[in-house]
Amino acid sequence: MAYLQLDNIQKSFGDAHIIKGVNLEIDKGEFIVFVGPSGCGKSTLLRLIAGLEPITSGKLMLDGKDITHIPSGKRDLAMVFQSYALYPHMSVYDNMSFALKLANVAKDVIKTKVDHAAKTLNLTQYLTRTPKELSGGQRQRVAIGRAIVRAPKVFLFDEPLSNLDAALRGNTRVEIHKLHRALGATSIYVTHDQVEAMTLADRVVVLRDGLIEQVGTPMELYDRPANQFVAQFIGMPSMNMVDARAIPSFSAQTGGRLPGDGFLGVRPEGLRVHRDHDAGTPGKVELIEALGADTLIHVEVGGVPLVARQNERTELQAGDAVSVELDPSVLHFFNREGRTLAA
Ligand SMILES: Nc1ncnc2c1ncn2[C@@H]1O[C@H](COP(=O)(O)OP(=O)(O)OP(=O)(O)O)[C@@H](O)[C@H]1O
Ligand SMILES: [Mg+2]
Repeated sequence: MAYLQLDNIQKSFGDAHIIKGVNLEIDKGEFIVFVGPSGCGKSTLLRLIAGLEPITSGKLMLDGKDITHIPSGKRDLAMVFQSYALYPHMSVYDNMSFALKLANVAKDVIKTKVDHAAKTLNLTQYLTRTPKELSGGQRQRVAIGRAIVRAPKVFLFDEPLSNLDAALRGNTRVEIHKLHRALGATSIYVTHDQVEAMTLADRVVVLRDGLIEQVGTPMELYDRPANQFVAQFIGMPSMNMVDARAIPSFSAQTGGRLPGDGFLGVRPEGLRVHRDHDAGTPGKVELIEALGADTLIHVEVGGVPLVARQNERTELQAGDAVSVELDPSVLHFFNREGRTLAA
């Protein structure tokens, strides 16, 4: 049986039906990431699991126990928010030990736990500081430390790194990854960040409009998206999506696998852009984005804007006439309704 089980979870705020029936089974020790467009219900779902909002209908089971109507404080879950929500006048040590103090845990036990968490999170030298004397990344580590000392059954993270700048975000992401390896704690993590989702998750849950679109390992979602929505949501830049009728020479290369009213999907790395006109379909360069290691080449083919990604630098410039080739081994086919067809 799953460690955490969501059984047809629904949530309405008044007339607004926000979570429309979510079924999900999470194993002990799994790191689950929720992604989806803004407003799709990620935070709401997390808050329902945390017990911060009552569940309208459905059942929530944790470790064999029905917790659907158990108050938040008794669920044995810890939540880490985007806003660190630390007590500003308390030291790092006091912030981290607060919940244990409330629970009347013995002082020496508290000290052992806080010291251990501080060591794991590289916070030992900051224990006597107050939050305002810390950087954003350090504050977020204190918030995580506060969750760790409680040794909850499940960690819930709602975009914990989105207040941090890019470099700090990257570092803290790596720390969270290592921390998960060390603690093996069951975690649910909401993010808008593709890299966080791809690197941290054992499994990613793609949500849309209060429902799950697909659940799978990051690479399953990348390689075998169930539909157009997931195909275009996972991966940056998005998968190119071409109407079967728009570029006949592309459709001709699919060996009849693409229905006449369907869509052809090809990731940016599945397109090659050449200067010579012999191979491929004629197009025009619209824009070059040199990212350092990668180069994005925006081209227009038969009126369709496409993005190609290559590892090499390019001499091409906006306005250049080019030819565009498909890698036939990495194509995706969708029917008119957007469902994936067997490749
Ligand atoms: N307390 C509330 N009362 C009424 N509507 C709410 C309430 N909380 C959330 N909603 C609505 O539920 C929907 C989902 O909100 P939620 O915060 O879960 O989205 P999200 O996926 O976390 O988005 P974001 O990525 O922007 O954080 C939104 O339309 C929001 O307006
Ligand atoms: Mg949210």
